[in-house]
Amino acid sequence: MTEPLEIKNIFSLRGFNTFDIEAKTQYFINLVSQSDYQAATKSKLVRENPCFILGGGSNVILPDYYDGVVLHPANSEIKLLEQKDGHLYVEAGAGTRWLDFVNHCIDNGWYGLENLASIPGCVGAAPVQNVGAYGKEAKDVIHRVHCYDMADGSQRWIEAAECGFGYRWSNFKGEWKNRYIIDRVVFKLEEKFNPDVTYKALAQALADRNIDHPTARQLADTVTALRDSKLPNPSEIGSAGSFFKNPIVDSDVFETLRKANPGIVAFPAGDGRQKLAAGWLIEQCGWKGRTLGRVGVYEKQALVLVNRGGCTASDVRQLADAIIADVRTRFGVELECEAIFVNSEN
Ligand code: EPU
Repeated sequence: MTEPLEIKNIFSLRGFNTFDIEAKTQYFINLVSQSDYQAATKSKLVRENPCFILGGGSNVILPDYYDGVVLHPANSEIKLLEQKDGHLYVEAGAGTRWLDFVNHCIDNGWYGLENLASIPGCVGAAPVQNVGAYGKEAKDVIHRVHCYDMADGSQRWIEAAECGFGYRWSNFKGEWKNRYIIDRVVFKLEEKFNPDVTYKALAQALADRNIDHPTARQLADTVTALRDSKLPNPSEIGSAGSFFKNPIVDSDVFETLRKANPGIVAFPAGDGRQKLAAGWLIEQCGWKGRTLGRVGVYEKQALVLVNRGGCTASDVRQLADAIIADVRTRFGVELECEAIFVNSEN
């Protein structure tokens, strides 16, 4: 028999968002078991109210009050499903903390996640925005995704190839927005460790430590040290990691920009296009380290907005808009937010 859902009323989300915004939701439901997922997708409350799936809360800007239902995946089991032809198929519950998952895999000799070490957030969010860092993206290791359809409560597997993965993008953010709740993800990992050190800053950090042939643990530790040197520790300073995406421009636009700004930082993005380092653009506009009211731009990485104490979503919006306007005026480039502003209308 299906257990009834435990529904919390007027619930504080302070501990559920890394920006540390004092937000409240009208209803809050923890999803722990399969029957919770099933019951939630069939419940009248969920069907008749605005609904938001909140994982680790590391990429969201929450409103003061969410007038609807927040669903929080909290299942965190990790299982080795199959070992075949040098690959390991590992399943993790949507509520598993991403960094625990990466550590668990490295400790067990399941390889492929080292460059994604120390990313905040939960496993269920990884396919949604195709998280990435240091030359690797979640899409490189995701095999398939299991989810519940909010439309009729049915369940299905979605293969990685169907997910429409792109830079910080998937169909879960696009055509499937608000349709599926992901409850678990299967990853395809490797028995043999094959380090990926194509990201220049990572190769340099290894060289600085005199490491020629890193072990998986050394690679993950080096990634962690790099992240720690640039990104705020969420337990000390509220932030949502990279606040903006790195904008991708066509080669002719890039050439014009480069002529006017010889120091511009960019990386090839395929098809002759270039991904501009948004942190560089923002820094050039003089925003690095600045504060506007209760929000600021992090001193060590201009792509990161930080809570200077007691900020709200509208403070964050104001600062983001001011930065977007300055970058537009100075470079003619349109910045897009990576962090998501949540409200009961979207
Ligand atoms: N830069 C500046 N000033 C700054 C920040 C960056 O000039 O204030 C320039 C530097 O030249 C630097 C280059 O930009 O070498 C790239 O910086 P970094 O290596 O820090 O990477 P990023 O492009 O700013 C992206 C991801 C991060 C990820 C890192 C490492 C996005 C939106 N962000 O940042 O992801 O950790 O690469 O791979 O793609 C996140 O999404 O929350 C996140 C932290």
